[in-house]
Amino acid sequence: MGTRQGLRHEWADLPDDLVSAVVAHTGPIERADAVPAGYSSQLASTLDTANGPVFVKGMRLDHPNSGTQDVEAAIAPHLTPLAPKVLWRVVAEGWDLLGFEHIAGRGASYAPGSPDLPLVVDGITAVGRIACPESVRIKKARTRWGRFLDYPADAAAFAGDALVHSDMNPGNLLLTVTGGVRMVDWPLVTRGAAWIDAACWVVWLVYSGHPPHAAEQWASRVPSWADADPDALDLFAVAQTRYWQAIVDAHTNRVTMALRTAASRWALHRGMWP
Ligand SMILES: Nc1ncnc2c1ncn2[C@@H]1O[C@H](COP(=O)(O)OP(=O)(O)OP(=O)(O)O)[C@@H](O)[C@H]1O
Ligand SMILES: [Mg+2]
Repeated sequence: MGTRQGLRHEWADLPDDLVSAVVAHTGPIERADAVPAGYSSQLASTLDTANGPVFVKGMRLDHPNSGTQDVEAAIAPHLTPLAPKVLWRVVAEGWDLLGFEHIAGRGASYAPGSPDLPLVVDGITAVGRIACPESVRIKKARTRWGRFLDYPADAAAFAGDALVHSDMNPGNLLLTVTGGVRMVDWPLVTRGAAWIDAACWVVWLVYSGHPPHAAEQWASRVPSWADADPDALDLFAVAQTRYWQAIVDAHTNRVTMALRTAASRWALHRGMWP
């Protein structure tokens, strides 16, 4: 989620046999550029090939989170055209690599007054229109966030059958050169109430400089926000604060601490004491 300290590997350091297996899919690779933003995956690079650019995301098989590759590979076919297509997967030499359709664009800015904000609303609205596939095992919102509530059973308020992206890091919303919005980075995809993505966005908006009431006004432009029971939002703001606290405990840095503070400001604004 761009908030963790992780060690990115360089394309040039990958074993030759692994690169050959990729070349079998892509054709000759002319150059590889590491993507600087984002730290969850151990490899993130754009490959320039004779057949055009490809985005590669990789995890080592011995990484405790290597299962994120399975989630991304399984969900991607259900997400087009909002998310990039998975073109190939190579598991070899201790690595699990996914090749994605390359998106020419840049990450969104959530700053107050940013012209990107309406496009972000469109992106979050588009997620809400995707049917949550029955055939893919997806984490449930009530389990993911219920453990952060005093009474986990209260997380029934987060349940639903909508597809939820849940990682509203602005680097995950790519604004394309043609003026559209695409969403990447789906390992935290969740089944839950349709308003959850807008609610996750509130935390990032506050982190980006919006007062909580203004952040909620932006979130309310996502149609599903209107379905959110205010009590459910109160609980979700508390769950978000404690979720971000858990991320701080695991990865203490300025970004995670500021997100935790943003979430708690939202909860306080809603009259909760997280
Ligand atoms: N298909 C794509 N085409 C072009 N750029 C992409 C593509 N997918 C991701 N990116 C870029 O690479 C960055 C990292 O990708 P992604 O967010 O999927 O990886 P991550 O390591 O899981 O990141 P994070 O640290 O946010 O969890 C994105 O923020 C985006 O800028
Ligand atoms: Mg990301």
